[in-house]
Amino acid sequence: MVTRTERTAVGLDAWLAEEYGFAGELSPIGGEGRNFVVTTSEGRRFVAKLDEDGSDWGEQDRAIDAAHSALAPLGVALPTVVRTRAGLIESMRRTADGRTMALRLLNWVPGVPWLESGPPTAARLRDLGRALATLDVALARVDLPAARRTHHWDLAQAARHRPLVKEVRNADLGTNPRYVRRELADWAFHVYTACAGPALPALPHSLIHGDANDENVLVDDGRVSGIIDFGDSLWNPTVCDLAIALAYAMLELPQPLDAGAEVVAAYHAVRPLSADELRVLFPLVLGRLAVTVVTAASRRAIDPNHPTWFITEDRAWRLLEKLAAFDPNAAATALGSGAGLDSASAHGASVPSLLEHRRAHISSALSIAYREPIKMERGSDQYLYDDRGRPYLDLVNNVCHVGHCHPRVVKAGQRQMARLNTNTRYLYDELTQYAERLAATLPAPLDTCFFVNSGTEANDLALRIARTHTARQHLLVVDGAYHGHSSALIAASPYKFMGPGGSGRAEPWVHIVPMPDGYRGKHKGHGLAAGTAYADEVGRVIAEAGAPIAAFMTESFQSCGGQIVPPEGYLATAFRHVRAAGGLCIADEVQTGFGRAGTHFWAFETQGVVPDIVVLGKPIGNGHPMGAVVTSRNIAASFANGMEFFSTFGGNPVSCAIGLAVLDVIRDEQLQSRALELGTRLRDGLRSLMDAHALIGDVRGVGLFLGVELVRDRATLEPAAAEATELVNRMAKRGILLSTDGPLHNVIKIKPPMVLTADDVDMTCRVFDDELGRLGLTH
Ligand SMILES: Cc1ncc(COP(=O)(O)O)c(C=O)c1O
Repeated sequence: MVTRTERTAVGLDAWLAEEYGFAGELSPIGGEGRNFVVTTSEGRRFVAKLDEDGSDWGEQDRAIDAAHSALAPLGVALPTVVRTRAGLIESMRRTADGRTMALRLLNWVPGVPWLESGPPTAARLRDLGRALATLDVALARVDLPAARRTHHWDLAQAARHRPLVKEVRNADLGTNPRYVRRELADWAFHVYTACAGPALPALPHSLIHGDANDENVLVDDGRVSGIIDFGDSLWNPTVCDLAIALAYAMLELPQPLDAGAEVVAAYHAVRPLSADELRVLFPLVLGRLAVTVVTAASRRAIDPNHPTWFITEDRAWRLLEKLAAFDPNAAATALGSGAGLDSASAHGASVPSLLEHRRAHISSALSIAYREPIKMERGSDQYLYDDRGRPYLDLVNNVCHVGHCHPRVVKAGQRQMARLNTNTRYLYDELTQYAERLAATLPAPLDTCFFVNSGTEANDLALRIARTHTARQHLLVVDGAYHGHSSALIAASPYKFMGPGGSGRAEPWVHIVPMPDGYRGKHKGHGLAAGTAYADEVGRVIAEAGAPIAAFMTESFQSCGGQIVPPEGYLATAFRHVRAAGGLCIADEVQTGFGRAGTHFWAFETQGVVPDIVVLGKPIGNGHPMGAVVTSRNIAASFANGMEFFSTFGGNPVSCAIGLAVLDVIRDEQLQSRALELGTRLRDGLRSLMDAHALIGDVRGVGLFLGVELVRDRATLEPAAAEATELVNRMAKRGILLSTDGPLHNVIKIKPPMVLTADDVDMTCRVFDDELGRLGLTH
């Protein structure tokens, strides 16, 4: 640790005299005792800087020299280096206490910090933009290997500090009572991560100053006169330099975005910004402010009276409160108004107009998610973005399994669509390649594939295959199950025929077995005893059916039924009963397959069984309409009885290319193990909220197939359906998409794209905690 006694410890006065040939008055600057103002007898001023390491930044000094010359016509100075008498940029010495120290001398830059020079005029704001752009253009000419580093304030890596949001105490109400500070910090990181994060790698990178804050930008006579302190400079997306400067220039201003627009316009006139750079500015500003406030919150426990750690904190909170009134698109438009950015939200119909047109042409049998309908404009990874540019963490769409619009999947489809798309009566590589790859993920003897276009078609076909193979008609289904929207499957889906608008079981060939629900059902618990008891119910229903059954159709885990993982041993014993009665076992993996369970690729594998027929859908094409049935050669042979099977689109080359890309991405991005790790983290995080929130009755599931059941009373299990709906709507307003399900509509469903991150998980738990608290049902 360098101390105030450093001057004497290193013999600074003599050192300066020997290396630079002058004596001067020394007075320390800052709290750390490393920097001194040197005033010579002729009144010239310099800054002497001591460091424990020598620098290998000679190139940077040349860059600063060049930038200094470029800035001179603007009347802006930089701290250029003064060379030693020997012509070196620094002097290295071993000190009496055995350390190696480096001494550098910098030319004095006139002016007072921006922070101390009063509210900025428009001219000063434009000075800042112009000076920074001129600096960035000059620095961009230098390739400095030593700058390829990171540090705490590296704005391109701001998401690293997101876990510190938990250090912000929710009791810290800001000046605007609408906002709670932790909520503001979560929002700022969310917008930064979802809106800037994915765009940054493709933006132009260069050496940047990296810390043009309101202490490092100097003002003299009302104009920007200098930019000092290159200590945080690094190789970064160039636009980060501007975003950092904006974050400080907008502090405490009544119309921060208008002021910011002045800076941006002047910057753009010197170094033109692309539309992509302009769009990330607002999220980057939020990122910088978020790092400022969470860093301060986390340091408070270390030293609440530190002289410099908290100087920006309150002002940064106040700016965040102001910026929270803006959507990303509106903010981008405001900031980029002088830089030629088109209004990003001007195209397409508005939400009210879409609703009106929808009412005219779309059946109201199809409801819309959320109380305030959301118009989605695009998707990427685990995020969806609405027409106002607001990002949503998608925790409910298991269709976009490897992430919305995954580039490898998109490219595979586009490439194939441009080359060949035909039907399965021809030979082409993609069909057999895909069938082989899919079959390889399944245990023997499941090796024969049928390709269709949806989960419904696949279940319908599975039922036909089972009926043909067994020459029987009757079907066992699980209470609360949903298998598809065809007539046959609605008749086989208690979720529908027992739910709103349903009129009960209509078909005598359908037999319902109880849902293997260890929480709410007849047999409690998740162990073998409950599993066997529920499986024996299957045996009982078979015995009572009064007709031989063709098959038992069951989801490996119940999804519409309320995110239920059956108790141990359930499927093994249930399948034994079915097979003993001559029936086939159909596993509907439409919701659960492709690694979601985490421990296994297929959810039925977690129960140690091999079904006779497996049904695949939703994630299989990552949003491209596909479905598949896989069974054994033997069962498939019975189905080849002369009546042809043909699906016009099923198994076409485009679908197969997409299916192959999905399998590749799951393997290459190790999404199954990610589901296990993050699903466990999310389940544990949500379970830890149970102490504080009596409303949570149960948190269950495996991998990224999770459910949170809300109850008004943990003893009676009175369902809290209205609360669940309210919570889901509140979460959506906070940028997290969830939905409710289960026969009592009180289970919150969680089945996100598998590209979730640990930060997403932690944010979800924090926001869940906040919003449950606001429902007012805490202990
Ligand atoms: C378990 C299950 N099976 C089948 C289906 C029907 O799939 P699709 O909507 O692709 O026809 C669904 C749809 O939600 C489902 O959840």
